[in-house]
Amino acid sequence: MGAAWRGVRDQFRRAGIDTAELDARLFAEAAFGMDRLELVNREREAVPQHQLSILDDYAARRLKGEPVVRILGEKEFWGLSFKLNAATLVPRPETEMLVERGLEVIGPLNDARVLDLGTGTGCIPISLLTEYSDVTAVAVDLSVDALEIARLNANRHGVGDRFTTLKGSWFDPLDPGQRFDLITSNPPYIESADIETLMPEVREHDPRLALDGGSDGLDAYRAIAAEAGHFLKPEGVLLLEMGTGQGQAVHDLLVGAGFGEVEIVRDYGGHDRMAVARLRTAP
Ligand SMILES: C[S@@+](CC[C@H](N)C(=O)[O-])C[C@H]1O[C@@H](n2cnc3c(N)ncnc32)[C@H](O)[C@@H]1O
Repeated sequence: MGAAWRGVRDQFRRAGIDTAELDARLFAEAAFGMDRLELVNREREAVPQHQLSILDDYAARRLKGEPVVRILGEKEFWGLSFKLNAATLVPRPETEMLVERGLEVIGPLNDARVLDLGTGTGCIPISLLTEYSDVTAVAVDLSVDALEIARLNANRHGVGDRFTTLKGSWFDPLDPGQRFDLITSNPPYIESADIETLMPEVREHDPRLALDGGSDGLDAYRAIAAEAGHFLKPEGVLLLEMGTGQGQAVHDLLVGAGFGEVEIVRDYGGHDRMAVARLRTAP
């Protein structure tokens, strides 16, 4: 087993992959169905041919530039493993800010209702649901394939009975009378013209529907800001993730749509990352 994964590591090193050893070990663990310790303990054993073929396939994909998480088909977020498919964005660590703030909002409430727009893997609402057992969530996406994975992730993490998926654009699939305590969204926010300049790992492997925010990157914010007020309870909170430098524009859109209190929160890198908006200003 050792010779097999080290062979892959050496191929990766020759190809200039910085994380050659880590990537090769992760692929071997997945291909051989072992954890790290077992891989070390069974170092001298021969590998069955079908497992070697899986390892070779992973290695070939990596050498063509596919990210490790895409090849393995899962990514950790909020300490939970989320399955991915071609229709889902790989969850990013900065999105955990929405979960942190969301928990502060719903923590003091009973039976809180959450709506997540553009749910992808479902990472935001599923993380919230795993923390409080009386919360229910509705997750919307335009992609049926993304919703299928979100459903699978919810079931895997034991919250499927409190998680509803709806296909459609932003608020379209919701009944007009529905009201939520918390609305979250990490919508597509890249300016269309900038997509070609993104790193190949993102440009070629994250779905365009998850990235493209229109000519100024703000299409989704305009659509969400215009309607969110109709779907929030009076004291409800809207949390929106955004791209670097979009804080002022998103702030102005939300104020223009009638939100009385809008805070722009920066991430650890000091970049605008999240809008926290309330219809009413806090007393
Ligand atoms: C940036 S990704 C975020 C995915 C996930 N929430 C996360 O944080 O990892 C944006 C998501 O919005 C979805 N989307 C794009 N346009 C949409 C629309 N008009 N209505 C609903 N969902 C949309 C995409 O399919 C994608 O899943």
